[in-house]
Amino acid sequence: MTVERRPLIAGNWKMNGLAADGLALARALAAAPEGAADLLVCPPATLLAPVASILSGSPVALGAQDCHAREAGAHTGDLSAEMLADAGCAYVIAGHSERRAAHGESDAAVGAKAAAAHRAGLVAIVCVGETAAERDAGEAEAVVAASLLGSLPDSARPGNTVVAYEPVWAIGTGRTPTVDEVAAVHAALRAALGDRGAGMRILYGGSVKPDNAGALLAPCDVDGALVGGASLSAADFLAIAGAA
Ligand code: 13P
Repeated sequence: MTVERRPLIAGNWKMNGLAADGLALARALAAAPEGAADLLVCPPATLLAPVASILSGSPVALGAQDCHAREAGAHTGDLSAEMLADAGCAYVIAGHSERRAAHGESDAAVGAKAAAAHRAGLVAIVCVGETAAERDAGEAEAVVAASLLGSLPDSARPGNTVVAYEPVWAIGTGRTPTVDEVAAVHAALRAALGDRGAGMRILYGGSVKPDNAGALLAPCDVDGALVGGASLSAADFLAIAGAA
């Protein structure tokens, strides 16, 4: 049986965007005609509330880049999934490799964040990816499959979870795996998901640009993209969405 998975093109703005630029970008996306892919933007936390009001009534969804596992409490500087939902988010990224590396987030910590997202009614975008050394050692598929299973809480379902495969060495470098390599990892992740796999979207991320999006998004197990740098340009982001 073939399961239809509508593509999702998600923009991760990372730590970019003061109000003037970020809100102009959100306005441009909100005004774009609806296409074949679902669109999502994940601005920095400072812009979530104003971007939520710009996107309201448009088909573009709002997500955050991280959350704390707890609902509330003495966690200075952190934001709970409930707070993100309250600000208008429908999605939150969990376990981006930049947070795994810079903030020491383990698979278990990522799983707790994804569970928190589910508790708050958000869709968790759970990220996994291998390092260059792991790929060179021929371990990419095994590493990402194990990381995914260690990062998914029991509450993960196709309706509340999106997987993002982002090879660490492809992020922000202009380098990408070959289309065959992407297809092989996505198939391995789909297999690792077992019963949950058929309906769960698996995105590719890492140097997705308008000129490579068509090829990278073509394999049947690739259900969209998680876009960093190119999501900061409305024209580039919409061109990527048009290729999906
Ligand atoms: P780039 O598209 O800038 O390589 O970033 C990818 C990424 O990390 C998205 O989360």
